[in-house]
Amino acid sequence: MNFVVVKDYHEMSKRAAVIVAGQIYLKSKSVIGFATGSTPMGMYRELISMYREEKLSFSEMITFNLDEYIGLAKENTNSYHYYMMENFFKHIDIEKENINMPNSNIEDIDKECRGYEKKIAETGGIDLQVLGIGKNGHIGFNEPNISFEATTHQVKLDEETILANSRFFTNIEDVPRYAISMGIQTIMFARKILLLANGKEKADALCKAVTGPITPDVPASILRLHKDVTVIMDEEASFL
Ligand code: PGA
Repeated sequence: MNFVVVKDYHEMSKRAAVIVAGQIYLKSKSVIGFATGSTPMGMYRELISMYREEKLSFSEMITFNLDEYIGLAKENTNSYHYYMMENFFKHIDIEKENINMPNSNIEDIDKECRGYEKKIAETGGIDLQVLGIGKNGHIGFNEPNISFEATTHQVKLDEETILANSRFFTNIEDVPRYAISMGIQTIMFARKILLLANGKEKADALCKAVTGPITPDVPASILRLHKDVTVIMDEEASFL
C-alpha cells in the first residue's frame, strides 16, 4: 500500500483528482469505478475544473459505480444515480452509454447483479477503483462480516451505516435498509485502487484496516492483499 498524508480535505481531493486524471490521460478508454458519499465530492469538483480548464476529456471513459440503494427511484435526490449525475456526470463530456450504475428499480435484483458483473468483465475489468471507507470499515456497502468472495450482490445495511447516512435524509426511517453493492471480489479485481479518508471520525476504521488483522470484521482490511492500493488521507484521518 502507498500512503499519502495531506493537510486537509481540499488537498486530498486535489491529489485524488490528479490520480484519476492521470489514468484518463494515459488511457482514454479507462474503466473507472466511482464511489459516492461526502468523501469523493471534492475530487469530482476538481475533475470538473480539470475538464473545463485543462481540456481533460472523459469522452471515452467507462464508469461503474460501487453501489446503489434499493427502494429509491433514480430521480430521488438521495439515490446514488442522482448524486453522480448532479455532482459529476452532467458537468463533463462522458457518453451516457458509458455510465454504469446498479439498477435497483428492477424485480430481479440477482439478475441485475449478475449482469453488472458480466458487463464489468466485458469491458476488460476496472482499471482504477475509487473508494471511501465507512466508520465501520466498510467499502462500498460491504458491511462487517461480509464474505470476501462476494461479487455484486444485494446487501443489508448495518445499523451504523443507516445512522451515518441518515444525515442526508429527513428521517432515519427514510434511509433504505437494502442496497446493491459491488462485492469485495469485484473491488479486489480492479487493477488499481484509490482509497480516500478524511476527518477524525474515519481514523479508527482506517487504522484498523491498515494495521489490524485482515478480517471480514473490517472489510477494508482485505485491501492490504491488493498489489496496487494508494491511500490518501488527511491529517485527521491519519493513523501515522
Ligand atoms: P462518506 O461515506 O464518504 O459519506 O463518509 C463513505 C462510506 O461510507 O464508504
